[in-house]
Amino acid sequence: MKLLVTGGLGFIGSNFILKMLKDNSDLEILNIDAELDGADKKNLNDLENSDNYEFVKGNISNKKFMEEQISRCDAVVNFAAQTHVDRSISDADPFLVSNIRGTFSILQIITKQKKRMIQISTDEVFGSLYDSSATEQSRFNPSSPYAATKASAELLVNSFSVTYDSDVIITRCTNNYGPRQFPEKLIPKVIILANQNKKIPIYGNGKNIRDWIFVDDHCDAVSSVLFNGKKGESYNISANNEVDNITIVKKILAIMDKSEDLMQFVEDRPGHDFRYSLDSKKISNDLNWTTKLSFEKGLEKTIQWYMDNPEIMNNVSQKILNHEPWKSSN
Ligand SMILES: NC(=O)c1ccc[n+]([C@@H]2O[C@H](COP(=O)([O-])OP(=O)(O)OC[C@H]3O[C@@H](n4cnc5c(N)ncnc54)[C@H](O)[C@@H]3O)[C@@H](O)[C@H]2O)c1
Repeated sequence: MKLLVTGGLGFIGSNFILKMLKDNSDLEILNIDAELDGADKKNLNDLENSDNYEFVKGNISNKKFMEEQISRCDAVVNFAAQTHVDRSISDADPFLVSNIRGTFSILQIITKQKKRMIQISTDEVFGSLYDSSATEQSRFNPSSPYAATKASAELLVNSFSVTYDSDVIITRCTNNYGPRQFPEKLIPKVIILANQNKKIPIYGNGKNIRDWIFVDDHCDAVSSVLFNGKKGESYNISANNEVDNITIVKKILAIMDKSEDLMQFVEDRPGHDFRYSLDSKKISNDLNWTTKLSFEKGLEKTIQWYMDNPEIMNNVSQKILNHEPWKSSN
């Protein structure tokens, strides 16, 4: 089987490619990435001389280009997206292009070429939930421009399923962490700043809750959906590991043997959702998927990976480590 993965130079896409090639000896992967925010070619350095891996630089919103690439493959997993919520607050325009227009172009092509497409979505489409967990049937209520573009993409996917009977499946996952995450995101940012003994920004009161999943567990779930998922369905993916930001920062500081005095409370980001939560019984029951790694072990593994990659730890610009990124222009 030849699989087209979009956004494969980013955090989850690169971990997915590495894992899929390790777990499936008969698989070939074509990675299409526009090398935008979040991309890092070094993420896949290990595959440079592999016969079963190919990288082509390109934009998923370019329909003619994507037609050619998809015709060479059997299925598409669409990770490509503008993903940084803070940046979507200062300029949402690129989010509309990648997340909506890009998804639309792939949908048109896989429908015509009769290929399977897995659309990678997010728990953020359901917005902030005070005490319940969203099921696959819950109502969309996105808060940030990022989440609104991901919800829009889902609506398009669904419309193609209903109108054209396209072979599409949606997955929605909670917050991922692990090796190769872009240093602008919470966990790598805390590890990098703590390692440099610099102040660590805590937005608002630090009580915002996310359900954190180790990236390999998410990749396993996407693999199950690709091979065994039911056409036209959607699957929520979560780890039942709801933790607030301040607890995460304290856990990282403890593992790294650093003082909690490094924490610094800063202004909250506009529209900062209090809590996301997904009910993932459906994928557990129907596809027999479950997480494998505990949060503690996953955090240790993640910190170790950053410590083992000093060229990433030590070469992050001040702009990336900014305490209030939604205020900076892109
Ligand atoms: N990170 C999370 O916690 C999380 C949680 C749930 C869902 N998701 C979803 O998973 C996917 C991957 O997230 P990530 O954290 O790895 O993101 P990332 O920002 O690390 O990587 C995104 C990649 O997509 C590429 N890209 C963006 N627009 C493109 C375009 N128009 N054409 C081609 N390539 C393009 C970028 O160059 C980058 O390499 C996204 O769709 C995101 O919405 C992420």
